[in-house]
Amino acid sequence: MSTPHEVAVIIGSLRKESINRKLAHELIKLAPPALKLSIVEIDEIPLFNQDWEMQPPQAVIDLKQAIAKAQAVLFVTPEYNRSIPGVLKNAIDAASRPYGQSAWPGKPAAIISASPSPIGGFGASHHLRQVLVSIGISAMPQPEAYLSHADKLFNDGGAIENQGTREFLQKFLDAFAHWIERQAS
Ligand code: FNR
Repeated sequence: MSTPHEVAVIIGSLRKESINRKLAHELIKLAPPALKLSIVEIDEIPLFNQDWEMQPPQAVIDLKQAIAKAQAVLFVTPEYNRSIPGVLKNAIDAASRPYGQSAWPGKPAAIISASPSPIGGFGASHHLRQVLVSIGISAMPQPEAYLSHADKLFNDGGAIENQGTREFLQKFLDAFAHWIERQAS
């Protein structure tokens, strides 16, 4: 078997009981052998300030190194007021600077959003897609993944029991593995 693609998983929520964090953990377990998913934390990233972009805080250096090391990025995010949470945008901005030294360009990516609402974070997902264009990231167009009523998805152990959802997530991850390979070739 060939070496799996290293995927940095970035979660757009800092909440301890985050649905999206639970989802990220399930995705790690459901990933095919072609993918090795690891969460890259963004909770230590200070609010971006262009004054320090030439000498960023260690948390930003670490984030940029983690992105550089990964072959691809998977964003798992909630929706805040029909957009992406500020913590996620802040991390994206911080790792995109200074100009010409962004960590992001060329990384294949995929987006999955999860929300208790019936529209599953659709707005956040598409705002994120727009942001990614500006940092040179191609987000996998399909399958689209907006997990609605996601607060009901997990059992007490944090596992997703619904077979249909598990199969959908597996298909999403398989498609992502192909997307990474296509972008590399
Ligand atoms: C929300 N929530 C929310 N949900 C949604 O589907 N669309 C939205 O626009 C918003 N807006 C919003 C704004 C703010 C400031 C908060 C705190 C929350 C609800 C959100 O989906 C819910 O809190 C999720 O549980 C957040 O994801 P995590 O933290 O569980 O991963």
